[in-house]
Amino acid sequence: MCGIFAVVNDKTNNAAQTVLTGLKKLEYRGYDSWGIAIKSAPSTSEVDGGQKLVIEKHIGKIGDAKTNLPAGNTAIGHTRWATHGGVSDANAHPHLDCTGKLAVIHNGIVENYLEFKEELIKKGHQFSSETDTEIIAHLVEEKIKSQPITQAVFTTFNSLIGSNAIGVIDFDSETIIACRNGSPLVVGVDEKNQQYFLGSDVPAFLKYTNKVHFLDDSEAVVITKKGIRLFDLKTGKEKKLSIQNLDWKLEDAEKGGYPHFLLKEIMEQKETIGKTASINEKEIKELAKLIKEGYKTILIGCGTASYCALAGKYFLANEGIISQNYGAYEYLPFSKFADKKTLVIAISQSGETADTLIAVRAAKKNRAKIVAVVNARGSTLERMADIVLAVSAGPEIAVVSTKAFTAQLATLYLLSKAVENKYDEGKKLIKNLSESLDQIFTVQSINRLIDLAKSLIDKEHIFVIGKHLNFPAAMEFALKIKETSYLHAEAFAAGELKHGVITLIQKETPCFVLASKDDVKGEILSSAAELKARGGRIIGVAPFESAEFDEVIKTPDLGNLTIFANVIVGQLLGYYLGIGRGADPDKPRNLAKSVTVK
Ligand code: M6R
Repeated sequence: MCGIFAVVNDKTNNAAQTVLTGLKKLEYRGYDSWGIAIKSAPSTSEVDGGQKLVIEKHIGKIGDAKTNLPAGNTAIGHTRWATHGGVSDANAHPHLDCTGKLAVIHNGIVENYLEFKEELIKKGHQFSSETDTEIIAHLVEEKIKSQPITQAVFTTFNSLIGSNAIGVIDFDSETIIACRNGSPLVVGVDEKNQQYFLGSDVPAFLKYTNKVHFLDDSEAVVITKKGIRLFDLKTGKEKKLSIQNLDWKLEDAEKGGYPHFLLKEIMEQKETIGKTASINEKEIKELAKLIKEGYKTILIGCGTASYCALAGKYFLANEGIISQNYGAYEYLPFSKFADKKTLVIAISQSGETADTLIAVRAAKKNRAKIVAVVNARGSTLERMADIVLAVSAGPEIAVVSTKAFTAQLATLYLLSKAVENKYDEGKKLIKNLSESLDQIFTVQSINRLIDLAKSLIDKEHIFVIGKHLNFPAAMEFALKIKETSYLHAEAFAAGELKHGVITLIQKETPCFVLASKDDVKGEILSSAAELKARGGRIIGVAPFESAEFDEVIKTPDLGNLTIFANVIVGQLLGYYLGIGRGADPDKPRNLAKSVTVK
């Protein structure tokens, strides 16, 4: 939700362009509008009399946008996912104070902004937007009358209620000050060129450096030409930066010849799933030990991650372990049952999803052990966890989750095998799965999916059914279609059909049937037959043919792991349906990559 990016001491003296390029990498965080503020270089000081920040804002996606902002080496920028105030140029960030010398970018929600706004209006401040963010600029403006700028920003930030991250540019001192409480912030240090970066996420500046410090809650940074200083917002005391070298490569954050990040990330699963099986062995075995000792196991997540949690419940059940799973947003009423013998396994790509973090905090309060199955590094979830299973699928830029999901799924599968004392066997099976995926990615197989997508483009509804492990797979399959193509796709447990859903099936209604060669194969085929009897067009996604299928997308027979292939078919189909229906596969409407608000 919203992307923050800033550069100080830009070596090209074209900081606006550097920020624009960085914002393009963060657009997955929000694409309602974007904007940049810069302190122009002295040679261009005729702009705004040279005494104010120069600002540019636009609604809509950044796309191929160019900027005409003047030269300068310190700038901030923002890409917005609207919360308070509609999508308009005025509501786009950065937001200025009355003097035009301070500008603020913000990710989060200031819950108490209205009280401040009333007070500030009484004091004569002029507001130009409907956002909660703008009060921050005016509050700092008030405070610098009696405090140094750094202090003014810190005390302002400490008075805000809610999960927030802000960046403030000060014209006079040419400083950028950023504070974090609940929304992600990371700084990057390019030592060679002595230029410094601030971002919501690393891909924004990966081109320049992989040396980063992830800010913790209640941390602030003051960035000047001399470097980055870190502060504790509670005590005001300076702290030491803990710089780490990320092993991310620039290519990870580029499209690498693919038309969209989504397609690239779907294809990358051939490698990412196998890679996941080579890491975390120690942590997985430690966790398996706790589960065998009788810890109550709860799996939580949101959206795609919640379907991963549900699949994890089936994997564990197959090994004789009972667990519970919840959409994290529904966990609170049950968090009171958590205790020190409870394991809460929180699954998240970003590690910043507000609903997941709230659930984790509630469980932690009751002394539950927290396990993070997370992809993005340095996240809040990772820092809250007692055990971290970092799935290392690499940066996932497309808003829709694909490779993070399969890496998380593989991790949970390995956990279930470790519980059975068969970790090595699990690892071998996952590696084998990775190789078998080639079968789905052949030109022939992709062309078949494109033809299928063409035949579905004008449909209004698609139904997807699955049973047991193929039930969470069906949920994820349908979500991919919904998110990427805006077609209404709904998944059901096959067993649920005859209890009501079947009434929706008419002649030619597309019905996907996800199946594996498992002990419920017969039952899912009976459900397929029921759909067929009502005139449905039955499209099997399975490693076998059947008379009940009108057509079939053959997936490799991988036992319990067949669901990986079945879901990937849904990812690809969603992608091609999205293209065919004119959607932007990387940035579906109304969505943001990490949902950092409740
Ligand atoms: O970052 P997280 O995994 O915690 O995100 C959870 C969901 O918001 C996310 O999976 C969402 O459902 C995506 N749009 C899925 O493609």
